Amino acid sequence: MRKVTIVGAGHTGATTAHFLAERELADIVLVDIIEGMPQGKALDLTEAMPVIGSDVLVVGTNDYGATSSSDIVVITAGLPRKPGMSRDDLIEANTAIMRAAVSASLQESPEAILIALTNPLDAMAYLAMKEAGLPRARVIGQAGILDSARMRAFVAMELEVSVQNVHCYVLGGHGDDMVPLTRHSNVAGVPLEDMLGKERLEAIVQRTRKGGGEIVGLLKTGSAYYAPAAALAQMVEAILLNRHLVVPASVYLEGEYGQTGIFFGVPAQLGAGGLEKVIEYDLNDSEQAALKASADHVRETIGALKLEVPA
Ligand code: APR
Repeated sequence: MRKVTIVGAGHTGATTAHFLAERELADIVLVDIIEGMPQGKALDLTEAMPVIGSDVLVVGTNDYGATSSSDIVVITAGLPRKPGMSRDDLIEANTAIMRAAVSASLQESPEAILIALTNPLDAMAYLAMKEAGLPRARVIGQAGILDSARMRAFVAMELEVSVQNVHCYVLGGHGDDMVPLTRHSNVAGVPLEDMLGKERLEAIVQRTRKGGGEIVGLLKTGSAYYAPAAALAQMVEAILLNRHLVVPASVYLEGEYGQTGIFFGVPAQLGAGGLEKVIEYDLNDSEQAALKASADHVRETIGALKLEVPA
C-alpha cells in the first residue's frame, strides 16, 4: 500500500482523509498538534471502513514518526479565515505552522511530494519549496481545481446541465483577483460565452472570485472544506495513479506565462513524479493583463514572507 500523510486533521484534513479512504488508494496518516483529535478521527474513519468496504489503514498521531516513508504529504495545517479576513491576513501565523510541518514531514519522508493547501496558498507553497530546497516538481499548491469547481458548479446551476459537462479554467493567484478564463470555458464543447449573456457570465465570474469568502461569511467560524478536500483528493489520485492529469494548480513558474520565481495557478500536468509540465494557453491582451495583475499581487505576498533561506 502507498502512504499519504495529511498534516492538519481539522476540517479540510479530515475530509480529505475521508475522500481518500473511500478511493482505497493509500494508507493514510493524520497528524495534528491537538492531542487525541487525530487519533479519534482516524479511529472513527477506521470504523467506517467495513461499511464502505475499503481496506486502507487510517492512523492518527501527534508524532511524525508514524508518517515515515510517505509518498505524498498534504499540508492543511494552519488557521482558517474569519469573516472579513483576506487570505493574505493569515500569512504570519501560517508561515510558522507551514515551516514546522514541512520540515518535520521531510525528515521522515525525504522523497515525498508535497501538496500545500494552507493559505495564503501561493506564498505558503513558495515557502515550502524554497526552505526545503526541493525541485519544483515536488511542491504543488491546491487552489485552481477548487476555484474552477466553484465556477463549474455555478454554471451548472445556472444552465441546469450536468457538472460533468461544464469545463471551466480559473488561473492566477488564489485571491479575489484570480482569473476565470471565460473564453476557454465551455459546456460540452460549446463556448461558455455563447451560452450565457454578458451580465450572467460576469455575475458568475464575480461569485467565483469571492467563492471562498461567501462560504466564510455563511459559516461564521472556519472556511470551506468539502470542495477543497475533494480537490486535494483528486490531486493525490492523479499522482498515485500516474494519470498525467491536467488540472489548474499552483506551481513554481520558470518563464511560463511570462512569470518567473512565483507560485501561480496554471494548467499543470500531474503524474507519478508530481508536476510533469505546465500547459500554456494562448491568451489575448485582456487575459494577459488580468493574469499580470494577479501575479503582481502574489509577488507582493511572497515578498512579505520572512524566509529563513535566501530567496
Ligand atoms: N502541525 C499540525 N497541525 C497543526 C499545526 C501544526 N503546527 N498548527 C495547527 N494545526 C492544525 C490545527 O490544530 C487544526 O486542527 O491544523 C488544523 C486546521 O484545521 P481547521 O482549523 O479545521 O482549518 P481548515 O478549514 O482545515 O483549513 C486549514 O486550509 O483553506 C486553508 O486557510 C485555510 O490555512 C487554512 C487551512
